[in-house]
Amino acid sequence: METAQVGNGAGQPTKPKICIVGASGKLGRYMVRHALDRDYEVVGVCREGSVGKLDAFKGRITVIPGATNDRDVIGRAVAGCDGVLTVLVPRGVNHYSAGTAQAVLDHARPGARLVFSCGWHITQDGRDVYSWKLRALVKVAGPLAKLARFADLDDQVDACRRVFDSDTRWTVVRGSDLEEGDSQGLPVWSRHVGDPILESNRTRRVDFALFMVDALSDDELVHEAPAIVGRQTPSALAHPGAGRGGS
Ligand SMILES: NC(=O)c1ccc[n+]([C@@H]2O[C@H](COP(=O)([O-])OP(=O)(O)OC[C@H]3O[C@@H](n4cnc5c(N)ncnc54)[C@H](OP(=O)(O)O)[C@@H]3O)[C@@H](O)[C@H]2O)c1
Repeated sequence: METAQVGNGAGQPTKPKICIVGASGKLGRYMVRHALDRDYEVVGVCREGSVGKLDAFKGRITVIPGATNDRDVIGRAVAGCDGVLTVLVPRGVNHYSAGTAQAVLDHARPGARLVFSCGWHITQDGRDVYSWKLRALVKVAGPLAKLARFADLDDQVDACRRVFDSDTRWTVVRGSDLEEGDSQGLPVWSRHVGDPILESNRTRRVDFALFMVDALSDDELVHEAPAIVGRQTPSALAHPGAGRGGS
């Protein structure tokens, strides 16, 4: 993303403007915090009933209430934005994730930096190597969650496929298992799940958010699907220098 300040014609520099789609969730609120720390102008989108979860940011961000797969809502929210951070969640069985991704892809301005969140189960090139635990989780819990109309993992897969196939400036950040706690700094990443550096499979949620926000200004991550892990985890410490795409 172009992070240079842009003049507003009145001699005053304007801040780069970003949109956070899914701002009211746990990841979303951490991203709002990091974005404000970096002095971005922030527009947040969240479901109407969740607007109150953003009260802590009242007066500092613009909130557009609505379903994130509502094309009209997204069209208004991303207008004029230099970057868009999108939380892709496989919740419900109404293609919510795919609809959200498509709306962002269609409405973001050409050249905008688009960063999407998902989990390790998403693969871009099929070369990820999964543990039996993750395979079992996707194979067993996935269909059960769909049956209960709680979540649809295939929807997130579809959403990411649309992103990978687009000609936008995308990054898909693949989160490991998450935990709460103080920041350990920017997570390290690798291109493929199964790489030894990722073995610890643990990232602080606050740092997942940091990676998402940092990706806005990291052009090395354009058209990458980094799988991330906490930088203080045993596997990250055991493989210094092996991160950032090294397989
Ligand atoms: N949880 C993990 O261990 C884990 C692991 C790896 C990757 N990830 C990835 O991290 C990202 C954030 O996940 P998270 O688990 O930390 O959750 P989160 O940040 O709390 O986000 C959940 C989001 O889902 C929305 N949501 C909840 N129920 C919904 C429904 N029925 N219909 C539509 N939207 C609904 C929430 O909106 P409201 O605020 O309106 O409720 C919120 O925006 C996701 O992309 C996920 O794939 C998570």
